[in-house]
Amino acid sequence: SPGVLVDRYGRVARDLRVSLTDKCNLRCTYCMPAEGLPWLAGPQLLSDEEIVRLVRVAVQRLGVTEVRFTGGEPLIRPGLVGIVSAVAALEPRPRISLTTNGIGLARLAAGLRAAGLDRVNVSLDTLDRARFAELTRRDRLADVLAGLAGAAEAGLTPVKINSVLMRGVNDDGAPALLRFALDHGYELRFIEQMPLDAQHGWDRTTMVTADEILAALGREFTLTADPAERGAAPAETWLVDGGPAKVGVIASVTRPFCGDCDRTRLTADGQVRACLFATEESDLRGALRGGADDAELAARWRTAMWGKRAGHGIDDPSFLQPVRPMSAIGG
Ligand code: GTP
Ligand code: 5AD
Ligand code: SF4
Repeated sequence: SPGVLVDRYGRVARDLRVSLTDKCNLRCTYCMPAEGLPWLAGPQLLSDEEIVRLVRVAVQRLGVTEVRFTGGEPLIRPGLVGIVSAVAALEPRPRISLTTNGIGLARLAAGLRAAGLDRVNVSLDTLDRARFAELTRRDRLADVLAGLAGAAEAGLTPVKINSVLMRGVNDDGAPALLRFALDHGYELRFIEQMPLDAQHGWDRTTMVTADEILAALGREFTLTADPAERGAAPAETWLVDGGPAKVGVIASVTRPFCGDCDRTRLTADGQVRACLFATEESDLRGALRGGADDAELAARWRTAMWGKRAGHGIDDPSFLQPVRPMSAIGG
């Protein structure tokens, strides 16, 4: 149908993830090297106005109902609050969320809430200060904890926490993270590491799997199936000790959920990606700067999504990591 982003497998993309920058103020070892990466240059980046225009096209012509801002680290984009207000003013108003490492969130949460942000997901892989500094190469645990508290106080709820476990680094900390999340009313999700790191160092045998995570949690908590509909959510959830608190696992590798995928992605340099693992992109920035009207931008976006593959293909012998790393896609 003309009004939605549908692919050849019949999946409809209603959830748009927009990367606002490929830069980050942390250097998580599973994501990028200590020295950082060759960042996108200024003229390559979409301007704030260009981002809002493309989100408007997605919302008004392509049936997108959820917009998530990501990075890199989206809080370091100077125009973030203005972008959020402009997107919140669209008719129909999409739901708006943000995925962040939490640094600076304590200061920005109230303004973002006032601008129209609905909720946040914050990355936090360990509660141990030294380990945090080792894992992220920055001694900023306190800023992240303050960011979480500030988000909850500002009403950016439910506040979710994303944790990536790495074997021998922080994988013994899962129960402590869950206890912390329960104590504060945050919704914790553990994420299986995916082959999207800039260093191409991902290794299936060192990845901590959903089964291992659930086994570790099961020694200290009683997990039962969550009766709520999962829909297209990447996270499979369990009730903790009878509920209502939940814990989630995003098991992209061992329990892929591509068949229910409802996502489309826009990079900070204006490329549409049909999938995290897409090897092709569609250049909306070039079209937009070349004078394309909204109808043409929408048509290009639909074509890009029609070409979405059935799944990520991580298990295929011929699997190749996409050229763009996670930090330049937006997760
Ligand atoms: P909620 O709507 O709050 O559930 O957000 P989310 O889990 O979809 O988004 P978030 O940005 O918090 O991402 C958490 C993890 O899920 C990250 O590692 C993302 O890369 C991963 N993720 C998000 N969407 C997809 C997807 O479509 N496919 C895969 N494989 N992973 C995804
Ligand atoms: N695999 C899985 N998750 C990752 N993240 C970053 N890199 C990877 C990866 N290779 C996580 C971040 C953040 C979320 C958006 O994605 O820790 O929580
Ligand atoms: Fe969707 Fe691709 Fe993620 Fe699978 S890997 S759920 S197809 S974005």
